[in-house]
Amino acid sequence: MTTVASAALDITRPALYRDPAALHERYALLRREAPVTWVEGSAYRPFWALTRYNDISEVSRQPEAFINAPRLTLIPQAVEEHLVAQGQGREKSVRTIIDMDEPDHRKYRNVTQSWFLGPGVAKFQSRVEAIAKRFVDKMASMDGRCDFARDIGLWVPLHVIMSILGLPEKDAPFILRSTQAMLAASDPELQRDAQQYGTAEFQQLFAYLGEVVERRRREPSDDLGSVIANGLVDGAAMGMLETLSYLLIASTAGHETTSSAIGGGLLALLEHPETQQRLRADPALWDLAADEVVRWVSPIRHFMRTAVADCQIGGVDIRAGQSVAMFYLSANRDEAAFEAPFEFRPDRSPNRHLGFGIGGHFCLGRLLALAEIRALFRELLARTRSIELDGPVEWVESHFVGGLKRLPLRYTMN
Ligand code: HEM
Repeated sequence: MTTVASAALDITRPALYRDPAALHERYALLRREAPVTWVEGSAYRPFWALTRYNDISEVSRQPEAFINAPRLTLIPQAVEEHLVAQGQGREKSVRTIIDMDEPDHRKYRNVTQSWFLGPGVAKFQSRVEAIAKRFVDKMASMDGRCDFARDIGLWVPLHVIMSILGLPEKDAPFILRSTQAMLAASDPELQRDAQQYGTAEFQQLFAYLGEVVERRRREPSDDLGSVIANGLVDGAAMGMLETLSYLLIASTAGHETTSSAIGGGLLALLEHPETQQRLRADPALWDLAADEVVRWVSPIRHFMRTAVADCQIGGVDIRAGQSVAMFYLSANRDEAAFEAPFEFRPDRSPNRHLGFGIGGHFCLGRLLALAEIRALFRELLARTRSIELDGPVEWVESHFVGGLKRLPLRYTMN
C-alpha cells in the first residue's frame, strides 16, 4: 500500500516518471494528506516536497524569502559531493538568470525581456510557422509512419531556438545531444556519465558558445544571440561567465521543454479523439488550447527554492536554509485550483497553470513556446486526415524535464 512516506520517496525516483498513472496517484495522495512533506532517506539531501498549487504559487511569488541559490534542482547527494570535490559545483561553473536572485536577477533578465516579450518573438513568428511546415512536410514524405517524438517533436523547437539565436543548422545534433545529457541526466538511455551528471557536455557547450559570442560581437544582427552577446548590465558588458550562461539557458531551456509539451499534447489528442476532432474543425481554439497543453504536460516537473529565514508554508514550520521542491505537474492537477483537472479542456479559461512557473522567474520563453505549439498543431491537423498510435509510448526517466521519448504514429495525410 502506498503511504505518505513511500509516496514522498517515490516522487524523487526518476523511474516513476515513466509511469504517469502511478506518479499522479502519489501526487494526489500527497496533495490530500501531506502537501508540505519532509523527504529524508532518498538519494537526495533532505528537502520539503510541495505538491499543492497554492503553496507553490506563494513560494514563487516571494523571491526575497525563497531564493534560487544555491539549490535549483534535485541532484543526487553523491553526485553533488563529487562535483564539489572536483571544484565543479554549480555555483562555480554556471550563472544563468534562473540561478540568480535579486537584485542581479532583475538586471540580467532585463537584457532579453523586451526581446522575448516584445517585437522579437512577433518578428520570428513567420520563421516558427515555416519550421513547423517543414517538419509536417517531412511527415508527408515518410510512409505514413513515424516516431513523432524522435522524428518531429524533438526537432521543431530545436530549429526554432537555433534560428532565433542565429546558430547554423548543421550544429543542431550537437546542441541536442548536449542538452539531453544535461537535462535528462537520470535517464540511462540519454545520459552519458551518471557520475558527471552532464557536466562534460556542459563544458563542450560552453566552448562552442564562446565562439558564438565572439562572432556576434564582431557581426551583431537582430537575433537573440546578438542581444545576449552585446548585453549591458549597469552600463557595462556582462562578464563572460554570465554571457555564456545566458546563451546556455537560451539554447537549452526552450527545446526539450517545448518538445515535451508537443509530444505530450499530441498524446492527449490521441487519447481524446473528440477533442482532436474539435480542434481540427476549429483551429482558432489553439489560442487557448496551447496553454492547456502546457498545463496537461507540465514539462518541467520541479524547481527548488531555499528559505532565507524561519517561516511557514501551508501552516508547516520551515527552517532557514531548508530547501523546498515545487512539483509543478502536481500543482497543475490540483483539484483545489482547477475544475476537473484530469480533463483535457482545449477551451479552459482562465487557465492559470504553473507550467511556466510564476513570479519573478516566470518563463521568459513562454510566448515563443506557445507560438510553436500553435503553429505545429495547426499545420499538423490541417494536413492530416487521421493520426493513430502505432505502438507503446515511452516516457523519459527524469523528475526534472519530462516528456515522451517514443511516440510511434500511423497517419494519413490529406
Ligand atoms: C513549454 C515550454 C516551456 C516550459 C514548460 C518552460 C518552463 C519554465 C519554468 C517552469 C521556468 C521557471 C519559472 C519559475 O521559476 O517560476 C522557466 C524559466 C525560464 N525559461 Fe522556460 N519553459 C518553456 C519554454 C521556454 C523557451 C522556448 C525559452 C526560450 C529560450 C525559455 C526560456 C526560459 C528562461 C530564460 C527562464 C528563466 C527566467 C528567469 O529566471 O527569470 N523557456 N521556464
